[in-house]
Amino acid sequence: MSYTYQIKSLEQYHIDYKKSIDDPAAFWSSVAENFSWQKKWDRVVDWNFKDPKIEWFVNAKLNITENCIDRHLATMADKPAIIWEPNNPEERTRTVTYAHLHKMVSQFSQVLKNNGVKKGDRVCIYMGMIPELAYAVLGCARIGAIHSVIFGGFSAQSIADRLEDAAVEFIITCDGAYRGGKDIPLKAVIDDALIGNKTIKRVIVYTRTRTLISMIKGRDVWWEDEMDHAERQLEANDIINFPAEEMDAEDPLFILYTSGSTGKPKGVVHSTAGYMVWTNYTFVNVFQYKPGDIFFCTADIGWITGHSYILYGPLSAGGTSLMFEGIPTWPDAGRFWDIVDKHKVNILYTAPTAIRSLMSYGLAPLEGKDLSSLKILGTVGEPINEEAWHWYDEHIGKKKCPIVDTWWQTETGGILISNLAGITPAKPSWATLPMPGVQPLLVDESGKEVIKKDENGLLKGNMCIKAPWPAILRTTYGDHERCRTNYFSTYENLYFTGDGAMKNENGFYRITGRVDDVLNVSGHRIGTAEIENAINMHAGVIESAVVGYWHHIKGQGIYAYVICSHIHSDESLTQNGILQTVTRIIGAIAKPDKIQFVTALPKTRSGKIMRRILRKIAEGETNNLGDTTTLLEPDIIYDIIKGKL
Ligand code: WT7
Repeated sequence: MSYTYQIKSLEQYHIDYKKSIDDPAAFWSSVAENFSWQKKWDRVVDWNFKDPKIEWFVNAKLNITENCIDRHLATMADKPAIIWEPNNPEERTRTVTYAHLHKMVSQFSQVLKNNGVKKGDRVCIYMGMIPELAYAVLGCARIGAIHSVIFGGFSAQSIADRLEDAAVEFIITCDGAYRGGKDIPLKAVIDDALIGNKTIKRVIVYTRTRTLISMIKGRDVWWEDEMDHAERQLEANDIINFPAEEMDAEDPLFILYTSGSTGKPKGVVHSTAGYMVWTNYTFVNVFQYKPGDIFFCTADIGWITGHSYILYGPLSAGGTSLMFEGIPTWPDAGRFWDIVDKHKVNILYTAPTAIRSLMSYGLAPLEGKDLSSLKILGTVGEPINEEAWHWYDEHIGKKKCPIVDTWWQTETGGILISNLAGITPAKPSWATLPMPGVQPLLVDESGKEVIKKDENGLLKGNMCIKAPWPAILRTTYGDHERCRTNYFSTYENLYFTGDGAMKNENGFYRITGRVDDVLNVSGHRIGTAEIENAINMHAGVIESAVVGYWHHIKGQGIYAYVICSHIHSDESLTQNGILQTVTRIIGAIAKPDKIQFVTALPKTRSGKIMRRILRKIAEGETNNLGDTTTLLEPDIIYDIIKGKL
């Protein structure tokens, strides 16, 4: 594969950026020419942000799996598409070549069809990080079913909500998953999620952990049996590949749920063609991927990073993607470095929280590990602090690897702002320059462009984007109005990201974090309202308020102020009860790090909780709490400060 659209110099970046803005249609059609289409587009882009209505590659037909698999077979059938590293280092590594991936995805597409899955049906995938998860995702895409992958850490209740929201009829899961020293009972969680459910027609179960599970007659089937059957069917018909469904460029490819400032997670919907072009383009350019490079993205496929940069980006580029089942600290904190050494990883893409966590173990876990294969490093998920950036640069990259700080969101489908490795300049803790096609704009509260620089020569404001790039979300599943109000109504004719940012004299952007009531905990987005709802479900809780505070590993920790009708004499019992409830309602990822019992919350006369004050107290601020004159009962804040954890 050659990537004619790979940017090779800073000068070319500026030229391509300009072209992409001056004539987006010409620019993106020349990129799109590099893919395989069943029918080409009539127009490159049609859009308005008012509805919003966004279409890329209008009326084109394609199947994304033909681009991720079939088109590589002529020249790369025996090249590794996926290298899988198991949780347990003693277990055998698996290498999935493009030919094998093709066979497995074809067979699994047949399995889906045999089980009644049709184009447009929603399929929930709740699995661990094993190659079969990739086959499941790509199998859905091949027959035109819409996949909705749910991260293995979400609770039965969260799954049930998501199943209902998207009217899901099919589930693919495993008996269990291995994560570090733990076995996660995935099928049992699914069974809990399905109590009382009347709409699920089929659950396909892959055996990973040999955990004892119950299989419900008429509903649950084994992956292995179904795959054997499909293999015989395909062989009997003399076909090795299941034909790829013809999809419209704008047909939804997947749904992925993400938190917002309201209680209920939103099902972000991505389209087929625009998402494909964007994940490929950003993968090839940001990471400066060269054929043969081993690319290791440490995210879970349950999050957007895994969708875009373990699967669709690397595979559409004919790349080799390393998929890791386990966690960075098991069996010890040297696991990532063992993997880099063992598989000769060239590009490592991870999160600041992982870097900070590994930093805390010192340099011993690095001893004897050969990291010389590394050429490029990347980070994603949250602002990276300078200390972590320098540690990554010095101890992992040995000061020889460019670091790309990639800013993007579930809704953006792929990277929007980042330096290009070794091509455009890096600046610690700055995401730097926008990708071609991306037009950021910093606005003030009233939506006016910020033009006045502060005393340091920086522009500061809320980050918006002026025009659509190919992978912008198309809607939120089942509720287009929600998509509009969430992203396109705060500021007229702009996509609002929810992030605050600054811009320097070189046009570099630094993302400072969310400006809404959304936390970023270990690179995972979670709304404070969602956590509060879960806490409030605990018997005895009257009211709660959740804010974020700086946490040295997680980036943001969850601080909950809780009013209870009655607290057990052993406070920790009440606390643990609340933690259990949050785990049941959302999942362990949403558990507060600190719970402070209070007798009242600071409120305005109109009854609004003043989180600004609570945030300051949680950060340890006691004096400059800002304007407290509008508080209903100003005195309660002294009690809250006294009780700070
Ligand atoms: C939010 C999106 C994109 C995949 C992972 C998270 C924050 C993400 C950066 C970065 C500063 C970042 C933003 C954004 N964020 N990357 N490089 N620098 N902040 O996806 O769960 O949709 O969260 O993560 O606040 O809005 P997500």
